[in-house]
Amino acid sequence: MKPIQVGLLGIGVVGSGTFNVLVRNQEEIKRRAGRGIHISMVADLDVARAQSLVGPEVKVVSDARLVIANPDIDIVIELIGGCGIAKTLVLEAIAAGKHVVTANKALLAVHGTEIFAAASAKGVMVAFEAAVAGGIPIIKALREGLTANRIQWIAGIINGTTNFILSEMRDKGLDFAVALKQAQALGYAEADPTFDIEGIDAAHKATIMSAIAFGIPVQFDKAYIEGITKLGAADIKYAEQLGYRIKLLGITKRRFGNAAKGLADGIELRVHPCLIPARRLIANVEGAMNAVVVQGDAIGTTLYYGKGAGSEPTASAVIADLVDITRLHTADAAHQVPHLAFQPNAMSDLAVLPMGEVVTSYYLRLRVADEAGVLAKVTGILATAGISIDAVLQREADEISGQAALAGRAQVPQTDVIILTHDCVEASMNAAIALMQALPTVLEPITRIRKEELA
Ligand code: HSE
Repeated sequence: MKPIQVGLLGIGVVGSGTFNVLVRNQEEIKRRAGRGIHISMVADLDVARAQSLVGPEVKVVSDARLVIANPDIDIVIELIGGCGIAKTLVLEAIAAGKHVVTANKALLAVHGTEIFAAASAKGVMVAFEAAVAGGIPIIKALREGLTANRIQWIAGIINGTTNFILSEMRDKGLDFAVALKQAQALGYAEADPTFDIEGIDAAHKATIMSAIAFGIPVQFDKAYIEGITKLGAADIKYAEQLGYRIKLLGITKRRFGNAAKGLADGIELRVHPCLIPARRLIANVEGAMNAVVVQGDAIGTTLYYGKGAGSEPTASAVIADLVDITRLHTADAAHQVPHLAFQPNAMSDLAVLPMGEVVTSYYLRLRVADEAGVLAKVTGILATAGISIDAVLQREADEISGQAALAGRAQVPQTDVIILTHDCVEASMNAAIALMQALPTVLEPITRIRKEELA
């Protein structure tokens, strides 16, 4: 059978990896797919560079629409990224009856509902294994391997840049800004690292996993997102002393309501730094690696680990999608794997819960004047809010430095009080933090980091 013909939009790091792995492993891939898979056309603004990467036999153009309009092309790979022209081209490729493979997490997290509806109407597949955790086959695992399960929760380290920064902060006792500079110098972090360090990239990925796990539409706008920019070396050190590591986690959970406690049914969808017990496997995922823990009712806990970015690791996921489409592209739409794991007419309208309704436990660090009664006031506020304390750690008082005195800061010794709480509703914690912050003996903004046992 003649090879399936693929058009590639954008030949950067992942595109060139995809081309190279397809060429290098073509015999193996053909034996698996049942026919050859051939990138026969590439669109890239830098035609000369693209041509030098793929050789003279592949047609290279600067206009992506020429690829979409080519009747010989069966599958379009979109590796442009972002929600601008990439969205237009994906929708045009679908309208032209092409199957689409994309690594574009932002596009699917924000516009997935529109894109999947267009693809279903046209009977084509949109495959996106590379959009979440790079080379780790987590979409395949959630959508197919775990299809027997009711998924209970997912927690993932799904941004390598921030995991690299957090690992450096812990290993070397660095503050965030220093670790970020190092990550940029080593090429782990972009010149503009906003999407990574503010948790947006992880939230795109968590949004996609949430949709597949629970059969809900992608709802990036409902995700709670908090990055790692406010973390200090002190918090990482204190967490360590308490037996925890701090990781940026993407979490999505099926929450069953409890009327007596005023808790609604719903889905949690959140990205934020998190204390997790140091003994968990995922707590020991270091550097730029990714890992995702999925808890299903039948399987129990599963863990998926690997490279979440990079040329050939991401190409591995793109090509897996090409093989899937090659196997299934002649099947009618009803027999294809549903985009979001559940049949489009069987999606759930379960709401994503506002962050204020989420129940979790907390790490608090308060910089306080080391005076009689401070701790009593703080714990009194927590008790009144119905928040139960799990552990308290108080460091020895610091000496007053000459600098602090000159700067007119508190003239009494200061100390850090660290409090671990049991589970409580986020809104109660917000109110308690506001009251504690208003105490004159609380000298700096209170640090609050959520804590998950992942048990
Ligand atoms: N910038 C991402 C990361 C990879 O650091 O993991 C692409 O999503």
